[in-house]
Amino acid sequence: VTGARVYLDNNATTPLDPRVRAAMLPWLGERWGNPSSIHRSGQDAREAVEEGRARVAALLGSRPEEVVFVASGTEANNAVVRSAARRSSGQGHLVVSALEHPSIRMTADDLAALGMSVTVVPPGADGVVAVTAVEAALRPDTRLVCLMLASNEIGTLQPVAEVARECRRRGVALHCDAVQAAGKIPLDTAKLGADTLAIGAHKFHGPLGAAALWTRTGVEVQPYVLGGGQERRRRASTENVAAIVGFGEAARHAAAELADRRSHLAALRDRFEAGLAAIEDVTVHCQSSPRLPNTSHLAVQGVEGEALTIRLDLAGFAVSTGSACASGTMEPSPTLLAMGLPPHQALSSLRVSFGMTNTAAEVDRFLDALGREVAALRRLAPSVLR
Ligand SMILES: Cc1ncc(COP(=O)(O)O)c(C=O)c1O
Repeated sequence: VTGARVYLDNNATTPLDPRVRAAMLPWLGERWGNPSSIHRSGQDAREAVEEGRARVAALLGSRPEEVVFVASGTEANNAVVRSAARRSSGQGHLVVSALEHPSIRMTADDLAALGMSVTVVPPGADGVVAVTAVEAALRPDTRLVCLMLASNEIGTLQPVAEVARECRRRGVALHCDAVQAAGKIPLDTAKLGADTLAIGAHKFHGPLGAAALWTRTGVEVQPYVLGGGQERRRRASTENVAAIVGFGEAARHAAAELADRRSHLAALRDRFEAGLAAIEDVTVHCQSSPRLPNTSHLAVQGVEGEALTIRLDLAGFAVSTGSACASGTMEPSPTLLAMGLPPHQALSSLRVSFGMTNTAAEVDRFLDALGREVAALRRLAPSVLR
């Protein structure tokens, strides 16, 4: 390996912004307190948590009271889906897009096993779920629709605002997983029109272990974690003060720098995608669909994505075959299968996701390495993949 390692897996997680780290450090050292305590230490921690909440709310264009801190995007998604099921005593109908993260799809599967009825709406070949397809899935007993704002895997943006209008007209709740969208594209809960929304700090240079469940005023999500009265009885557990402070700081910078971030990320992605012309039989999935500025999802013909990821890792480049949660298995991605790709093509994919620390020079080094490793694997590949 020559030179430093290059990290191009920012949809899995992002490096911590040093400014965020600096804001967190006092809360991992000289400052501490339980925000529920009435003494001075507790009140200091309370202030820090509420400042974090105001900053996260500002990123979402929402009110601070609408933000509930949770430990992960996964938890927020589980909470919303399970709450819908509890409200209908496990009997209603759920609509989830086939693009959803496993934290929604697996919760829906679990509820289906318990008797709920679930409709999975596939995206088109363009990686976008059609509004009409969601409409067609709605039933009189539909309790909840889950549609993510941006796919973690292929990066396509989904028509959440349009679906929200239709859901509202019919009195059906809409949950939007905006975990991959936050910090990369504008997020305005008022314009989006969803009832609940999930975001997580670690996807935009904030810390792991801090996420938010946003709930529109008047919408109730039944608590998923029970215990103390924290978060206005909406989520028990002593708050993770350092992580929440970091989340707030990451949100503040993301909001202030959003336009610059979008153009930095899009410039890297476009440079990368233009450079792919030099590598034979590599195409970008859903290139003309509305997409996140930072994600390129590639079809690398005749090459198994997992093998390519491992070779690139050995050469000093971190990328992914798709979602981090699905890696380590050889199963083709459900997202790609739902888009209509045959399994062997779904297995020949690579996800490259840029972050704010990446540079044009890294893109160029990666393109060289990719060309080399793809050629090497094609020499070895069994003909069945071709
Ligand atoms: C779209 C999407 N939703 C939810 C999650 C889960 O978030 P967390 O890692 O905070 O559990 C992820 C992260 O991989 C994601 O990409």
